[in-house]
Amino acid sequence: MGFGRSATVTSASTTCEGIVQRLDAFGRRFEPAFSRLVAAPAGAPPQLAEAMRYSALAPGKRVRPYLVVRSCELVGGAFDDALPAAAALECVHAFSLVHDDLPAMDDDDLRRGRPTNHKVYGEALAILAGDALLALAFELLARGYDSARAGRMTLELARGTGWEGMIGGQVADIEGETQAPNLERVRYIHERKTAALIATACRLGAVAGGGDEPAVEQLGCYGRHVGLAFQIADDLLDVTSTAEDMGKAVGKDAQAGKQTYPACVGIPESRRAGLAAVEAAEAALACFGQPAHDLVELARFCMDRKH
Ligand code: IPE
Ligand code: IPE
Ligand code: MG
Ligand code: MG
Ligand code: MG
Repeated sequence: MGFGRSATVTSASTTCEGIVQRLDAFGRRFEPAFSRLVAAPAGAPPQLAEAMRYSALAPGKRVRPYLVVRSCELVGGAFDDALPAAAALECVHAFSLVHDDLPAMDDDDLRRGRPTNHKVYGEALAILAGDALLALAFELLARGYDSARAGRMTLELARGTGWEGMIGGQVADIEGETQAPNLERVRYIHERKTAALIATACRLGAVAGGGDEPAVEQLGCYGRHVGLAFQIADDLLDVTSTAEDMGKAVGKDAQAGKQTYPACVGIPESRRAGLAAVEAAEAALACFGQPAHDLVELARFCMDRKH
């Protein structure tokens, strides 16, 4: 399947081998700690806990928690400083995937190589598991940091997730299904539904590590460009890849009339736009020098990835 820790994250070319190995090693370190943080308290309904863990712990690439941790380390923090924020980000991401796959949204049966949450637990529990993952994200921030830092992080995560972030983008994505493909609209959607949360990962990491405002801004700028490249690649993979490699259905964007880069400008021009975003991401890291080389590679990996 090309999925999961046993099969490791894969890239289409060998230029990204370093970051592929780093992501894989990161997953092995992050996942046991993440599993402990997504453990239900005694009073939680067991079915809810199972549905939450089913999606959160399913084999993903863990790109967002990696960005939280490495942004934290870049400004002088440590893995443990970043861990609650990294887990919070992955909870919001898992919530977004569970809801994205619902029949009322993209109506998908396969995610991370497994049946989607609502296929296993039913729609009502999938909706509630998504809701509870979002609530858990904020609980992790509140429990993991002193009140000043938790307050700042709550604001960052709420903005990246809510009406001006991921959820706002998802609304525009669904509305866009009935509109003609338009590059300005696609960019608007991608900057929100995907790039906002990826930028938030970088910003939260910088805050967790005690970085100053210019560092938070610079890493956020990197994250916005990486996020755009990441979603352009997702659009391209929907056209060029297979369900086996992706662990999710392909060929569905055109069928649903989604606003995507390939629908607007075709495959070669989409690739050029993705590479331009990667270059902009790299430029945003220049001030961090050599210690940020893996984040430069991660930006390239986003366009080069196989799934
Ligand atoms: C999928 O994200 C949703 C998009 C924003 C395109 P990922 O490609 O990071 O999914 P996982 O976490 O590896 O499953
Ligand atoms: C996903 O966009 C954005 C999210 C916020 C989950 P897609 O709908 O293209 O993501 P996939 O292809 O289902 O992973
Ligand atoms: Mg979608
Ligand atoms: Mg989808
Ligand atoms: Mg997609």
